[in-house]
Amino acid sequence: YAAAFARPPVLHPSSVSTGVDGAKVNHYRISMRQAVAQILPRQTTNILGYNGIFPGPTIELDQGTRAVVHMRNHMPKNHPTFGHLLATSTHLHGSASLPQFDGYASDVTLPGFYKDYYYPNTQAARSLWYHDHGVHFTAQNVYSGLAALYIMHDATERELLPQGAFDVPLIISDAMFAANGALAYDDRDHSGLWGDVILVNGRPWPVMKVQPRVYRFRVLNASISRSYRPTLSTGDPMYVVATDGGLMPRSQAVKYWRHGMAERYEVLIDFSKYKPGQRIQLRNLSNANNRDYDNTNKIMAFDVVAPPSESEMKLDPKWNFIPTTLADSHVMGLTKDDAEEKRYFRVQRDDGVEPWTINGVTWEDVIASNFKLASADPKLGSVEIWEIENKSGGWFHPVHIHLIDFQILSRNGKPPAAWERGPKDVVYIGENEKVKVIMKFGPHMGRYMVHCHNLPHEDHSMMFQFRVGLGEM
Ligand code: C2O
Ligand code: CU
Repeated sequence: YAAAFARPPVLHPSSVSTGVDGAKVNHYRISMRQAVAQILPRQTTNILGYNGIFPGPTIELDQGTRAVVHMRNHMPKNHPTFGHLLATSTHLHGSASLPQFDGYASDVTLPGFYKDYYYPNTQAARSLWYHDHGVHFTAQNVYSGLAALYIMHDATERELLPQGAFDVPLIISDAMFAANGALAYDDRDHSGLWGDVILVNGRPWPVMKVQPRVYRFRVLNASISRSYRPTLSTGDPMYVVATDGGLMPRSQAVKYWRHGMAERYEVLIDFSKYKPGQRIQLRNLSNANNRDYDNTNKIMAFDVVAPPSESEMKLDPKWNFIPTTLADSHVMGLTKDDAEEKRYFRVQRDDGVEPWTINGVTWEDVIASNFKLASADPKLGSVEIWEIENKSGGWFHPVHIHLIDFQILSRNGKPPAAWERGPKDVVYIGENEKVKVIMKFGPHMGRYMVHCHNLPHEDHSMMFQFRVGLGEM
């Protein structure tokens, strides 16, 4: 634990306008660039970054403020190390975006070109993230640095949970470095990439100074293939308060939580019981179907500092507590009686051979059909239950459904884990597990993707699409 903790910078809008209906619109400009980063102590690393940094700049706004992101592909034609064409598509993960702004894998922007993405931001407050989704090379592009947070606030969350200095993003990823400091990429026949260095906000095993009080951490697993089980070295509980789609109905005390790729968990840690000078580690319990190295059982450390003086404390008595009742998201109120349709999906790799499939379908099949092949045609506004089963021995698959939030109804016929009892858009499906999720399709019509967020799996080609409200056309 040597590196100093840092937060990614917050991106300021380049201008602000008013929509025809009076809504505030923030305009952002981002350029994807090749850049040199200082990640390891004595070496530099070539990265691809939104505005040339990894993680990219955080977009932070209030619910109801719209965003237009001018996203320019300012990268070289081919990846400087891996060689593939740098054709990008930007996905705002967690947003109910219109299909044309959702980062559809084959809707690519070539080097030298740009695309303006429109985001409505009408959902409940949540931690989102934007990342590359370019067809076949999402893994290499995200691994090279094209990932960043996007935070949406609302009044409920501002009242209940720590803000500002006490609201802290933790973007966790792992990497492998060559002797010269370059990022090394080896996905072991598209099984996955497990690095031996753990990064938090782009820094290896950092140390953060904390006051003895309650902090909120927005934890995003931006790894390509690694899942985590974060836990405190003291064995003390942490309190999960929000999942992918925002606040949970009730906070959940946990000693650890399991964190698949692309999932977001917001967690409160109460440092008030520790003494100034004490160091508390955030460690990583080993997890099935990963590859561990000497130091992958550590994530970061917190050094408790003396409490601020009385006068400073008086400025900020707020949020220094653990709330129990939080908020009801619409999707958490759905029950199986609401469902009009049930569907079944099986994710697997047949006998260890390529490719990864979902119900026998790959993204190659979708491409070959000229994007007509859809694996589900839910009606606009309809509620469905999807049962997803992982039939591949030796792997776990965090499955992400675009556009909607879902509720996990069951995991192997039992209730979901404590930490996943909130609105979700990614569900971890372990080896031989069967998971049921319920959701309502909307608010938009159109084609959206479903895929495994182990990115080499997604790229090869564990992805399909569904069409909302277009079934009879
Ligand atoms: Cu986080 Cu389809 O992506
Ligand atoms: Cu997978």
